Amino acid sequence: MTDAAIIAKELRRLLAHAHAPYSGVHVAAAVEGADGALHYGVNVENAAYPQGVCAEASAISAAVTNGHKSIARVYVASSLPELVWPCGGCRQKIFEFATAGCEVVSLAPDGQAGRQTIEQLLPLGFRLNTTQVRPE
Ligand code: THU
Repeated sequence: MTDAAIIAKELRRLLAHAHAPYSGVHVAAAVEGADGALHYGVNVENAAYPQGVCAEASAISAAVTNGHKSIARVYVASSLPELVWPCGGCRQKIFEFATAGCEVVSLAPDGQAGRQTIEQLLPLGFRLNTTQVRPE
């Protein structure tokens, strides 16, 4: 099996762990650090709808918790039949940690895969130069 096929299988398994009683859409994501380490997350919805967290955000939190702040690739799978791409907010969250050319790989249940760079998904994304923000 290719790396993407192995990750797709793990994401399909994790879809069962998503907490999505309101939308019924289960999503799982994997963030691949620059060193190849994988960090997983699922969407976690909330009765107070805006408090829900997307799978990509969960996976990014896991990566950062484990000391990884460099993202080379993001994989996304969902319970929907079509390819699913990160929402606008998650594109910005990915961009924060993305290495140049960071790829987002969307995996459909039928084995179809789509690939886009984060720059394609979020042209002219926002970054802060912290030395300018907090001079000293
Ligand atoms: N969702 C994700 O977790 N990631 C995506 O890429 C698209 C949408 C979630 C948010 C919400 O819990 C559910 O899918 C339906 O919008």
